[in-house]
Amino acid sequence: MVLSKIKKITLNKYAMNLKNLISLIVVTLLLFSCSGSDDDPTTPNSNNPDPNPNNSTNITYNSHIKSIMSGNCTSCHGNPTTNSAPMSLTTYSEVKNAVETRGLIERINDTNNPMPQGGLMSQTNRDLIQQWKDQGFLEN
Ligand code: HEC
Repeated sequence: MVLSKIKKITLNKYAMNLKNLISLIVVTLLLFSCSGSDDDPTTPNSNNPDPNPNNSTNITYNSHIKSIMSGNCTSCHGNPTTNSAPMSLTTYSEVKNAVETRGLIERINDTNNPMPQGGLMSQTNRDLIQQWKDQGFLEN
């Protein structure tokens, strides 16, 4: 009898501790989930400001992309091509085609094997080409 009473008390104590532990875990989880959802709505605006103010502008081949190509690419990717460049980048459809089928965006961002070979172009130029693609390759 006595033994079982002691056992009961110890068990009760154990159960109490477990209860406390569970409450602690629940409270901790609640705290974490609250702070998470508090942060979320503000994240895109306050923590991730759009680095490129041009995002609202239409990026077109004629206004933006053509001059990037002639300034950085057509010395080799001209028509005709020179320095063993495999294709020319002198028209709208050639450049669009190179983005779609020749990994042009990957190459202009590839630090190990960049185009142009001398090194990466400015972030602005690279962003413009990415946006041109994202906006559906506008020509004018
Ligand atoms: C100095 C000459 C030169 C310049 C400048 C140059 N390229 Fe190239 N490009 C090459 C050569 C040579 C190759 C083929 C070898 C290779 O893939 O690295 C090539 C390959 C490429 C390829 C891969 C084609 C394929 O089908 O594998 C792409 C895409 C490309 N260039 C885009 C560009 C862009 C965009 C620019 C300008 C931002 C540029 N290149 C500037 C010489 C040049």
